[in-house]
Amino acid sequence: MFGIGVKQRVLTGIRPTGALHLGHYVGALKQWVPLQNNYDCFFLIADVQALTTHVDQPKLIETSVREVVLDWLAVGLDPKKPNVHFVMQSWVRELTELTMYLSMVTPFSWMESNPTIQSERAALRGEVSAGFMTYPISQAADILFVSPNPQASKKEILVPVGEDQIPHLRGTNKVARAFNSKYGPTFVECAPLVGEVGRLVGTDGQAKMSKSLDNAIYLGDSREALKKRVMSMFTDPKRVRADVPGTVEGNPVFIYHDAFNSNKGEVEDLKTRYRKGTVGDVEVKQKLFEALDKFLSPIREKREKASKSADERGILEQGTGEAIKIAQETLERVRSAMHLDYPSLRRM
Ligand code: TRP
Repeated sequence: MFGIGVKQRVLTGIRPTGALHLGHYVGALKQWVPLQNNYDCFFLIADVQALTTHVDQPKLIETSVREVVLDWLAVGLDPKKPNVHFVMQSWVRELTELTMYLSMVTPFSWMESNPTIQSERAALRGEVSAGFMTYPISQAADILFVSPNPQASKKEILVPVGEDQIPHLRGTNKVARAFNSKYGPTFVECAPLVGEVGRLVGTDGQAKMSKSLDNAIYLGDSREALKKRVMSMFTDPKRVRADVPGTVEGNPVFIYHDAFNSNKGEVEDLKTRYRKGTVGDVEVKQKLFEALDKFLSPIREKREKASKSADERGILEQGTGEAIKIAQETLERVRSAMHLDYPSLRRM
């Protein structure tokens, strides 16, 4: 389909700052899994990028790397396939070098005008590091290092991400174009793949599921932990008793039913009775718990098995090794475009 030999490349990443939850599943992993059938896939553990916010928590980053690998295996990412690579960002030293070169063709004002940087900076409050302010350039390097030589292939790099990452992908393409126009065609551009659901509210109804808000259901949660979390979920705050008609729209319990309960008839029945005031919150939650448990139990089992037998380091070494080979080719092209290979210093 894409010409001889080389498959089109997919690259995406996650910061290792905790185990993954249903929000990650809906917003990212669900879209990633089928891509393994058609593309050369690079799944990046962005441990360097995690330092932009977690420079004081090296142990958390270390343990999270393992959690993320186990979560990826549990949802069905398969590094045994020859086209699937789990990559540790910090082990690809070429990325640090590429980031530095790209930073020279990137106006600093692009960092300050990036809306994702603006909102993350506001949330962090106080002083932010230079590494934080410039991480979009590092992310551009994360993506562009898998660029084929545009003289040989024009296939763009596909990047499956959530909405919040779109400014970074636009920025990546601006950087690629700035580089190409100064030094000649060196990078192809990237294109986002944004999933249908995108974002899952927290169990407390807040806009986002997140560890810091303590409103998350983790892929590895036990049946007991899941039950506790579901039974304490927020519902319609105006509904004081089971015989009071309730609101389904925007109600976290029903958002989850829609996303995870495969028994659509049951969901419709619960909605009808909820609106009429003939079903209690407890029953709605009980059924959600069963549905979520059905969804999570194969993931939980796979995770358990992987945590006993998977060779996490070996998986990362192999995937990163493939990434390094490609990064070295790209860096050679970059250095030569920038004349950093100094042909004139060579003896004839
Ligand atoms: N910024 C992404 C996030 O916070 C993680 C990430 C790092 C990434 N490098 C990437 C995503 C490259 C896509 C492509 O989730």
